[in-house]
Amino acid sequence: MPIPFNKPYLTGKELLYIQEALSSGKISGDGVFSKKCQSYFEKKYGYKKVLLTTSCTDALEMASILADIKEGDEVIMPSYTFVSTANAFILRGAKIIFADSRKDNPCIDETQIESLITSKTKAIVVVHYAGIACDMDYIKNISVKYNLFLIEDAAQAIDSYYNNKPLGSFGHFATFSFHETKNITCGEGGMLVINDEKYIERAEIIREKGTNRTQFLNGFIDKYNWIDVGSSFLPSEITAAFLWAQLESLEDIQKKNSNLG
Ligand SMILES: Cc1ncc(COP(=O)(O)O)c(C=O)c1O
Repeated sequence: MPIPFNKPYLTGKELLYIQEALSSGKISGDGVFSKKCQSYFEKKYGYKKVLLTTSCTDALEMASILADIKEGDEVIMPSYTFVSTANAFILRGAKIIFADSRKDNPCIDETQIESLITSKTKAIVVVHYAGIACDMDYIKNISVKYNLFLIEDAAQAIDSYYNNKPLGSFGHFATFSFHETKNITCGEGGMLVINDEKYIERAEIIREKGTNRTQFLNGFIDKYNWIDVGSSFLPSEITAAFLWAQLESLEDIQKKNSNLG
């Protein structure tokens, strides 16, 4: 009999919260459940701003737009990763410069990064593979020295730490996945973390099809307009309700996972 690659863990509250979302009459994005999930992450991990997305792939695409990646820009990332890490930057015309993994784990070998930097380098993307932290002190120093965007692909790294500091809190941006194969899931889902305040407003616009609809919904303007590039990156309340059921049990789920080994 084939052994399944993964089995999504259900807390038992998913349907209850989905029913609540349905009964509320608000099932598109950015309702009560989305806000609960986002502020949970901001409070627990100290992220400046969290925006739920429909996947980590989408969050990476948002990060690529926010970093203003253009034709010919170079982006350094590990050769050992999932396709989305590279695709998000390729879509904006970047040239991907791959660095090898370390000898002792699949993360980027931080000692290779500096020699790969050229006048065209725009960003360093690290991947905390299987929740293993990259050497963030070393890599952050390089990004500051060369004035490069630092992006953490933390798809597999929820609730993981480097020197007691949560992964996802080091980069200008960080991206997480709630795909069925991850510890915390909602089927398909993700989030973008924005740690530099000056990118928050643009991130909200990009996520809402390039419109300032979020400002309109928050009561700051009386109508919304198309003002930038963007796409439909926000998940529905049905997805967020499912995710909330999982987040309420995050500590239990993490304990169960660590008992597997
Ligand atoms: C390192 C990494 N980046 C990005 C992704 C894409 O995540 P999603 O399926 O949420 O788009 C994955 C998915 O497994 C991943 O492992």
